[in-house]
Amino acid sequence: MTTHETTQGQDVVDILTAGHQDMLDLVAQIQQATTAEQRRDTADTVIAEIMRHSVAEEMYVYPVMEKHLPNGSEEVQHDKKEHDELVDLMKQLEDVDADTEQFMNLISDLESHLRHHANDEEQGQFPDLRKHIPADQLRELGEQVEKAKAMAPTRPHPNAPHSELFHKTVGAGVGMVDRLRDKLTRTKHRKGLRGFEPLTLSTPSRTYHG
Ligand SMILES: [Fe+2]
Ligand SMILES: [Fe+2]
Repeated sequence: MTTHETTQGQDVVDILTAGHQDMLDLVAQIQQATTAEQRRDTADTVIAEIMRHSVAEEMYVYPVMEKHLPNGSEEVQHDKKEHDELVDLMKQLEDVDADTEQFMNLISDLESHLRHHANDEEQGQFPDLRKHIPADQLRELGEQVEKAKAMAPTRPHPNAPHSELFHKTVGAGVGMVDRLRDKLTRTKHRKGLRGFEPLTLSTPSRTYHG
């Protein structure tokens, strides 16, 4: 189903760039969906994908950018601000009925924010990463990102990522996390998005509010 299932040999830029495309493809699916249920279901999936991608970036990739890229601190500050804007839109989506115009307007906003942010990274920071970081380190970074995505952020665990974004997004998406867990249980053996299979959702997500 996806062309990105094999990540061996890919570096962090390949992986994150493929992730951007996956998110945009999911947004297009929402826009083409014919029922509110399909829209909500796919919105949950794209929200989870954005959360995992962004948390992985903030945990592993942005610190490297901060350290090694010219103007790295400013770039990271800018990128984190855009992640926050995405989180804000995802929070709003959580509270809006998928059968309304408001929902579709929010999806439209999400799409433009995603395109803008992906473009910033793909045109600016990713080429800089390749310029300033050796290829083998970029592949290692890719592996770290894949691991972080597999545990964040729908897996409540004491050793889960401690990034500020992780807590913000989990706090925002508990209803979504519950629905996702149901969905993942239902579609356990179905081929889906790259990286969904390793998710472990055995601990109730409510733990986060304890
Ligand atoms: Fe990002
Ligand atoms: Fe990204």
